[in-house]
Amino acid sequence: MSIPWYHKTSIYHIYPRSFLDSNGDGIGDIQGIIQKLDHIRDLGFEAIWSSPFFSSPQADFGYDVSDYKSISPEFGTLDDAFQLIEEVHKRGMHIIFDLVLNHTSDEHPWFKESRSSRNNPKADWYIWRDKPNNWNSMTGGNGWHYAKERGQYYWCSFLSFQPDLNWRNPEVKQTMFDIARFWLQKGVDGFRLDIFNTIYKDAEFRNNPFTFKLAPTPDDPSGYFQKAQYSQDQPESFELAKELRQVTEEYGERLTVGEITAKRNIVRKFAGEEENDGLTLAFDFEMLEFKFTAEYFRKLIADIETHFHPPFMPVYVFSNLDKRRSIHRLGDDVRKAKLLHMLQLTVRGVPCMYYGEEIGMSNLKLPFNTALDPIPHKYTFAPRFIFDMLDITVNRDEVRTPMQWNTEKNAGFSTAEKTWLPVHPNYIHVNVESESKDEDSLLNTIKSLMKFRNENSAIKEGSFEFIDGFPANVLGFKRSLNGQTFLVLLNFDEAAKDVHLKFEKTVFRLTVQDEAQGETAHLNGFGGLILTA
Ligand code: GLC
Repeated sequence: MSIPWYHKTSIYHIYPRSFLDSNGDGIGDIQGIIQKLDHIRDLGFEAIWSSPFFSSPQADFGYDVSDYKSISPEFGTLDDAFQLIEEVHKRGMHIIFDLVLNHTSDEHPWFKESRSSRNNPKADWYIWRDKPNNWNSMTGGNGWHYAKERGQYYWCSFLSFQPDLNWRNPEVKQTMFDIARFWLQKGVDGFRLDIFNTIYKDAEFRNNPFTFKLAPTPDDPSGYFQKAQYSQDQPESFELAKELRQVTEEYGERLTVGEITAKRNIVRKFAGEEENDGLTLAFDFEMLEFKFTAEYFRKLIADIETHFHPPFMPVYVFSNLDKRRSIHRLGDDVRKAKLLHMLQLTVRGVPCMYYGEEIGMSNLKLPFNTALDPIPHKYTFAPRFIFDMLDITVNRDEVRTPMQWNTEKNAGFSTAEKTWLPVHPNYIHVNVESESKDEDSLLNTIKSLMKFRNENSAIKEGSFEFIDGFPANVLGFKRSLNGQTFLVLLNFDEAAKDVHLKFEKTVFRLTVQDEAQGETAHLNGFGGLILTA
């Protein structure tokens, strides 16, 4: 049985402000993305997700929308967005837009109207209360903010300028569904859904209970000594996943991928109970804090396979716009990054790669007090080393620096004197042009892995089974489809390892020292092999 395209695709995530600046203002834009579509196609990715470029005061760089049907001028025009859709399709790829359904900007005309009085036509479009309850926002601190015009408080799951919409108001729901339809009609192939599990809150606004948990983690939004029991994961949000699935399917097979910060069983519930009739995909963020050992990945994959067995499909993602870049977690060791991506591109799941991850772009350490990202300004009271010790990226500017295309001015990202964020100084050697010329680069390794994936449906959609009994720190699994079986061997150890198994022939080697003969596979330190069975 053939599986839908969105379960065998591969996603390249663009942060549009930082991808390519086509008009020299120091900010990336839609025409810039269009100019670089061939880079993404040549890498082998089949789908592109762009972070938002809709009209917005840019207080949270596009995650604060003030009009969902127009484009912020620094990114271009509606025609540019339509052209982007067309150009992506011309190359046989899919395009996914980022939909922020939970909240708007406080500069959205709906909010301005809603705030103006207690009895205007939009009075009930946001969440208004005479008295706040004890809920904390996801970024820490009280999430209720006072509006003197109404003498009431409005609720913000995220930051104070991102008021939450009231989804219990049918007009709101209808309007947001129609916005989705507007873009689907224009040809968009699906949506990444921002903080999807916070959309509904408890109808009675019960206080959240106490917990000892200090900070939210990728698998649990509870933190700041509060369990997020009534402010997240409400039953109506699971229903919404199904309703939204129906809206998108009015236009055929469309991808929906939810940003869900929750335990794996809850993430799965957003995709459906028995059938995959909710969101088609959901991010699983535990792995953003991966440990580089075979044991860690063995456990992770086993648990993912338990929850996301067919007909569900997991997503494998190691970097995004909010968390540390994957190579940074690996101490900037390119050998380790190659192995990590070999796992990502051969395991059963949809891989999602963040722009620049293919060349090994790393975090750029930047001070909190001059950050453009609003979050670090809430935390300037605490010494930086505490966050570093806890491995938390508070200043998201550090993972959003301009894409490194070549060794020219601003790494080829922009001709401006000053780019919106500084370019990482390592662009001199970490850039697309230099790495394309080096056969052994991370970029070329990812390219050949993608090619292998795209040419072999057993990797894209085949079954998954662990191969056990290997030496410590070696991970092995089988991918099979229609009588074809691949054996994938990954050595997470610095030391070389020999593995005994029966196989037919070698079809992929990660390093030149990886080789298999007779019944022995020799894996180099951080090496990897794909064999046929
Ligand atoms: C998501 C986005 C993040 C944004 C937030 C509020 O977590 O990934 O960048 O700031 O939602 O919309």
